[in-house]
Amino acid sequence: MAVVSRLDGKRVLVIGGGGGGIGRAIVRSCADAGATVAVADLDAARAAEAVDELRAAGRVAHALSGDVRSGGQLDGMIVGAAERLGGLDTLVTVVGGQVAFVPAVRLHEMADEDWETVYDVNLRYVARAVRRVLRLFLEQGTGGSIVGIGSVTGFMAAPTQAAYGAAKAGLYSLARTVAAEYAADGIRMNVVAGGAISTAVNAASSDEWVPEIPAGRYGTSEEVAAAAVYLASDEARYITGQQIVLDGGVSVRGPFPG
Ligand SMILES: NC(=O)c1ccc[n+]([C@@H]2O[C@H](COP(=O)([O-])OP(=O)(O)OC[C@H]3O[C@@H](n4cnc5c(N)ncnc54)[C@H](O)[C@@H]3O)[C@@H](O)[C@H]2O)c1
Repeated sequence: MAVVSRLDGKRVLVIGGGGGGIGRAIVRSCADAGATVAVADLDAARAAEAVDELRAAGRVAHALSGDVRSGGQLDGMIVGAAERLGGLDTLVTVVGGQVAFVPAVRLHEMADEDWETVYDVNLRYVARAVRRVLRLFLEQGTGGSIVGIGSVTGFMAAPTQAAYGAAKAGLYSLARTVAAEYAADGIRMNVVAGGAISTAVNAASSDEWVPEIPAGRYGTSEEVAAAAVYLASDEARYITGQQIVLDGGVSVRGPFPG
């Protein structure tokens, strides 16, 4: 019997897929699962590098560059990916974070423009990309799947990262509404919410946080990617408006000694 991979025949756009952490792992995992992939990133060289890696492994992949903070460039990523891949079945929104963009400070110290920046790169662009891709999915008449990369800060307190947490909470809200409004069109949206995931952005704090994690270690980008691939796949066709939490138990750990 032929082995069918989870994303065989799927055309996937990963926005923020050029990065070294979660984005790149999602790109690799989607391609390994059989998808054709468009990789969009602010850093054109990193997007090209991700695509070269896939092509060297015999995969079909295309690189696109642009800034998600520009509506026109964001639309260009979606239209460009659909042109190159002959349509689109899945959108994964990876760009996000706080400390990579603005300083982590207490809420009352946060500058208005920093709040706007965090909001822009975590929620505003996702909302625009979702609206644009919904139109595309409806025009295609194929249905489709959207996977947002969220964070436990969207539902846990996030001292010094209030803007980040508020934006990630918005992502999950968006997924619930997309689920309710578009499930009948075969369109789903879900979120993968990571806890402490081992990437460049938090390398410095890893020793400090590990004792707080019941699993006793950070998660990996590959673990986040595996959840994203599952949610993008038809195996998850009845799952929409949900959030899968990958945090090694952090968010369910009570204050009581075990
Ligand atoms: N690292 C963690 O511990 C952790 C935990 C939970 C959730 N997350 C989430 O995972 C996602 C990925 O985080 P990561 O640290 O692994 O990043 P990453 O290494 O996957 O890189 C993100 C990519 O986004 C690109 N990018 C940045 N600004 C952009 C812009 N304006 N336009 C287009 N592209 C842009 C960068 O060039 C980079 O290639 C984020 O949404 C983050 O909130 C991370």
